[in-house]
Amino acid sequence: MPEYSAAIDCYSDWVHVQEYKAPKSIEEQKAQYRLDELLSAIPVALGINSDKIFVKQRRQNKGKQQYERLEKQTNRAKIAVKEGQATLLVDLWSYLDSGLFLDHRPVRKMISTMVTGKHFLNLFCYTATATVHAALAGAESSVSVDMSNTYLNWAKENFDANNINQERHQLIQQDCVSWLEECRQGFDVILLDPPSFSNSKRMDDVFDVQRDHASLIHRCMDLLNHNGTLIFSNNLRSFTLDKDILDCYRVDNITEKTLDPDFQRNKKIHQCFLLKS
Ligand SMILES: C[S@@+](CC[C@H](N)C(=O)[O-])C[C@H]1O[C@@H](n2cnc3c(N)ncnc32)[C@H](O)[C@@H]1O
Repeated sequence: MPEYSAAIDCYSDWVHVQEYKAPKSIEEQKAQYRLDELLSAIPVALGINSDKIFVKQRRQNKGKQQYERLEKQTNRAKIAVKEGQATLLVDLWSYLDSGLFLDHRPVRKMISTMVTGKHFLNLFCYTATATVHAALAGAESSVSVDMSNTYLNWAKENFDANNINQERHQLIQQDCVSWLEECRQGFDVILLDPPSFSNSKRMDDVFDVQRDHASLIHRCMDLLNHNGTLIFSNNLRSFTLDKDILDCYRVDNITEKTLDPDFQRNKKIHQCFLLKS
């Protein structure tokens, strides 16, 4: 039903509704009427109270806007949800994104099967949900890097919620590009899941995944231990993998296998690759 343009996600007993702003050709009144219809149908369809619904409006993704704080609408604390073994904290109220990217559930699950006794690196780690899964699956150690203190504090809360040892599982606040240049450690499994675009004040240059992915991938492949694996993923709809990467490494495009049924209709949500030397 294209006229009801919203993503409806269930987190524990909360329903998170993201309405995609209607194009200018649709009268505002009509768009509001459709949203009201949608909001009155959700409690009936899901058997919940309407006070458990939280609504946000998403506009066309304009650069850094995706990571900005929303106007404060409520003082609610984060809620805990379960994903496999992991307890993960989500915030449906303060940011456009909740702290847990749902399209990557299968990738996190796959990581759990790859890391027992291994050294894991999580780049652009956000709230470090993939690291939580890795630690719970018995990774020997991990390093998770992100530029944002807000998300690293959130990552720490996720670690605390799962009793993760923070000496063996390190959180580092730094620009991943400069961190990778300086890094001399080896890893068995690396997750590289950068944003499409980023232009924080903390970086010398803007980051553009289409332009910059090849050099990041080469650097990650240099850091892999013998027989190690790089998992490279990104959400840019128009993304194409650099030909040089296909020539240099064994590349397996696992996008299809990493889409759960609720994302099958939107196959451009992410692209995911496994790379080995
Ligand atoms: C698309 S998310 C990554 C998703 C994450 N890997 C996951 O699975 O949940 C973007 C993250 O990259 C971080 N970020 C953006 N540019 C960065 C940079 N140059 N260095 C380090 N972190 C960066 C942001 O702070 C944000 O947490």
